[in-house]
Amino acid sequence: MPVSLARWPAAHPRFAGVERLAAAVGQGRDLEVVFDRHLSSHLIVALDAGAPVGLLRFVVQHIGPDDDLPAVRLGGAPLTEAKVLAFGVLEGARRRGGTALQTEAIAWATELGCHQLRSHSDGDRTANHQLKLRMGFAVHPELRGEDREGAYFVMPLRGDAEALEGASRRRRGA
Ligand SMILES: CC(C)(COP(=O)(O)OP(=O)(O)OC[C@H]1O[C@@H](n2cnc3c(N)ncnc32)[C@H](O)[C@@H]1OP(=O)(O)O)[C@@H](O)C(=O)NCCC(=O)NCCS
Repeated sequence: MPVSLARWPAAHPRFAGVERLAAAVGQGRDLEVVFDRHLSSHLIVALDAGAPVGLLRFVVQHIGPDDDLPAVRLGGAPLTEAKVLAFGVLEGARRRGGTALQTEAIAWATELGCHQLRSHSDGDRTANHQLKLRMGFAVHPELRGEDREGAYFVMPLRGDAEALEGASRRRRGA
């Protein structure tokens, strides 16, 4: 059965269940970490028969300061991104929840006016890398310490998909 998705405030009465879930999928530290650069924090929970089985937390921040760089601006205004800090699905619910959570994050970040959705994944996270590539994320490999296979995954959110599709159809004469 497919999971259902819900947007939960951090003050949700069942938040303790998400904390336990985050710990079980190795995402406990990143569920609640807060930095001054975060403008807001957002949590999506995957539910199976009402029980939390997956989570995705992203923060909204300006693009740049995360890497101690000045904010990237468009026409003078600083651009924002949704950065995914915590993402995981319980073993029993895998091959069902991950793509759905990412798709909902893309929708929510688009509603929030973010320019992109971005995350970093260590090289040993094979399932996560495959999922992101399958979804069409751009990939930017990055050396981190001994990890030679880690990468940033970036989904642009401001492209006008319909216009691009129309232009492509016209080019193909369809
Ligand atoms: C990454 C994770 C959230 C994926 O959850 P999921 O529910 O299995 O994801 P999906 O069902 O949407 O999988 C989508 C695709 O990802 C790929 N994939 C998923 N698990 C995979 C695995 N173990 N090996 C290879 N590819 C895998 C497949 O291409 C899959 O498509 P398919 O089922 O049609 O073959 C889950 O494996 C997880 O919680 N891992 C531990 C925590 C983690 O690594 N989090 C990443 C942040 S650092």
